Amino acid sequence: MTTATSPRPFWLAGRAAAGASTLEVTSPWDGGTLGSVGVPSPAQTEEAVAAAAAVAGEFAATPAYVRAAALDHVWQRLTERAEEFARLISAENGKPVKWARIEVSRCISVFRWAADEARRFNGGAAQRLDADAGGAGRLALTRRFPYGPVLGIAPFNFPLNLCAHKVAPALAAGVPILLKPAPATPLSALLLGELLAGTDLPAGSFSVLPVPNDAMPALVQDPRLPVISFTGSVPVGWSIRDAVPRKRVTLELGGNGAAVVLADYSADADLDWAAQRIATFSNYQAGQSCISVQRVIADAAVYERLVPRIVAAVEALVTGDPSDDATDVGPLISEDAARRVESWVNEAVGAGAEVLTGGTREGASYRPTVLTGVPTDAKVSCEEVFGPVLSVTRAEGETAAFAAANDSTFGLQAGLFTRDLQAAFRAHRALEVGGVVVGDVPSYRADQMPYGGVKDSGVGREGVRFAMEDYTYERVMVLTGLDL
Ligand code: SIN
Repeated sequence: MTTATSPRPFWLAGRAAAGASTLEVTSPWDGGTLGSVGVPSPAQTEEAVAAAAAVAGEFAATPAYVRAAALDHVWQRLTERAEEFARLISAENGKPVKWARIEVSRCISVFRWAADEARRFNGGAAQRLDADAGGAGRLALTRRFPYGPVLGIAPFNFPLNLCAHKVAPALAAGVPILLKPAPATPLSALLLGELLAGTDLPAGSFSVLPVPNDAMPALVQDPRLPVISFTGSVPVGWSIRDAVPRKRVTLELGGNGAAVVLADYSADADLDWAAQRIATFSNYQAGQSCISVQRVIADAAVYERLVPRIVAAVEALVTGDPSDDATDVGPLISEDAARRVESWVNEAVGAGAEVLTGGTREGASYRPTVLTGVPTDAKVSCEEVFGPVLSVTRAEGETAAFAAANDSTFGLQAGLFTRDLQAAFRAHRALEVGGVVVGDVPSYRADQMPYGGVKDSGVGREGVRFAMEDYTYERVMVLTGLDL
């Protein structure tokens, strides 16, 4: 990765701006400097907010073809520059480049969906009102209109695609957006800003502001930003919602994803598949995904045959330099993050857990780890590890397995390994989560499907069209005196 010499500009109301100060970005893998970015001053931040508020009316009225063309421009340029983006994501986040490439291809898909949705959105629904005498000659026409500009706050774990999930639906719906990337990973968001700047969107419709976290409370409180879309930690997310209960707040928070393996999933090929998927998706991005597999709940009928398969599959993962094509698992975002994971595993071991593989740290890297005998109140089980650590537990039957999966303050997604269609429907009914994935891990996400959680995992839904709905509200126009 080449090191940029001068600070990268940020995007203020659609144009490049030099910061008042700078933020250095370093590699989680080797600590090397990747470059620096300009940090907006409070006056520049104010300028971006004012521009978003000023353009909101004009942007909402922009024809669908203009918004769709801008979104098409972004995914097409992103396709041309996919490898550059993947290398940048990998460098600043530490995720293996093979996973960074998948993130870029998902981001392309998000913008492509957004272009399609921009064309479809707001077709309007006509409803005749003359079912009652008082409504004779009347028709209701419903369209969606923006609440106003969105403040999008993105995390470090998908530094491009989780920005895309804030930005693309906003632009598709004609809603200005201020994007705040994570301080550890602003480079991908700023490069995305370069693609956005190549569109014909009105000035003020987007800004990318790498402001420090302590600038957030003022932005959160700003009445000109009535919608907040936040992805990040549980305490920060809920404190935002508590601070502005009258705003429209979408929270995509954590999870401690469970993969449930039922008794019928017992053929050798089934268990091999489950073990391989579990091993891969408890460790992808070093476990730093809200839907990574953190807990495996296996029916007693398959437990003994499943566990050694999981351990073997985890041990087969290649760890090391994220820029190497062969690497499966790279470092965590920082040494502090790896130390926290280490202390949580140590706590579980102190409480009786057994380490089947892993359990060691080197700098910011933590070895892929499988634990058994973890007490349910140990942090590695009941909190979000956000690291490459998996606990396997045994359940006596389906009801106990579902109860164990639900024994969590989180409710984001769950995976269910079964071939029994009725069991799949029972799980869909019983599991308290935003999504159940049958025949695979909880980590599956298609970017157009509704994505979000219940309980502490958040409120609201992403998935392009669902975010567009969150950013807008229905406004009815009643037409009277019609000759229906
Ligand atoms: C997340 O960590 O919540 C995002 C997961 C994903 O988009 O795959």
